[in-house]
Amino acid sequence: EKEHQEKTKVKNIQSVELGRHEMDTWYYSPYPEPYASCQKLYICEYTLKYFRKKKTLLRHLAKCTLRHPPGDEIYRSPPAPANDPTYVGGAVTSPPISMFEVDGKKSKVYCQNLCLLSKLFLDHKTLYYDVDPFLFYVLCEKDAQGYHIVGYFSKEKNSAEGNNLACILTLPPYQRKGYGRFLIAFSYELSKKEGRVGSPERPLSDLGAVSYRSYWTREILEVLREHKASLSIKDISERTAIRTDDVVKTLESLSLIKYWKGDHIISVTQKIVDEHLKTIANQKNIDIDLSRLHWTPYR
Ligand code: ACO
Repeated sequence: EKEHQEKTKVKNIQSVELGRHEMDTWYYSPYPEPYASCQKLYICEYTLKYFRKKKTLLRHLAKCTLRHPPGDEIYRSPPAPANDPTYVGGAVTSPPISMFEVDGKKSKVYCQNLCLLSKLFLDHKTLYYDVDPFLFYVLCEKDAQGYHIVGYFSKEKNSAEGNNLACILTLPPYQRKGYGRFLIAFSYELSKKEGRVGSPERPLSDLGAVSYRSYWTREILEVLREHKASLSIKDISERTAIRTDDVVKTLESLSLIKYWKGDHIISVTQKIVDEHLKTIANQKNIDIDLSRLHWTPYR
């Protein structure tokens, strides 16, 4: 009933200003009144506090000392080599990035503000205020001013369903640059550190489904290439932390799987793997340097 009411609500806030970006919103978000009746909200890019007037935001910014999300920096991209300022991990040129882990219980208001902001771009989500059971992994680009929020994913501290990601967002000005893929890859790296497999919470949005399909395809093809295509579904799942049903679905979509006496059989040659990999060679990819990830599972 509550879900239905939420879904039928009309989009209220038309645009938000956040840092140097102005963004048109996509969906309804339950900001409290009187903010909910504003055409435009002004949001502090560090605290995610929201204001009705630019003047009030500026007054807040003059006092606000925070220049990064309120949590631990658990990942920082490697520095560019001194002799080449545009080089970052190969062909892709991108600014330095960091990941922060923010605890929903310790930084409740920030995480609630993050959920309200992200709901503006998510259709089906219903979590806004009960953030205690979640950790939020916030991706930022860094410059001389501070750490600018790019996107995030949330993760349940204890997921009964074995989900390794609850909700993912790349803010519109940063979309289609490989950041979504980076966030997904990061969620699986955390699962590997936990020694578990994981999967995103369902349902996926259309954009979520496209992004996951792309990530799964590349990861699975790469382990098949490394191991000369002679792996079982369980082997692939253990190496990638991708749950077996997601592995099967992905292999099916590539027509690389057969059924025999009720079992799944991977049916693939090295040549086919290489051909598939060639077709996705131009995907945007921001590498994770695992030596720079400092994280232990939640206890
Ligand atoms: N149209 C077509 N394909 C797209 C689009 C688009 N608008 N946006 C991304 N893609 C494809 C990319 O081409 C890429 O595929 P490729 O690697 O095969 O080329 C893949 O999706 C990932 O692209 P990225 O640039 O890495 O992803 P991005 O930073 O744009 O983020 C995300 C993807 C997070 C899904 C973003 O679109 C978003 O925030 N959407 C709104 C919120 C949302 O729907 N989140 C997912 C909900 S499901 C859940 O939370 C479990």
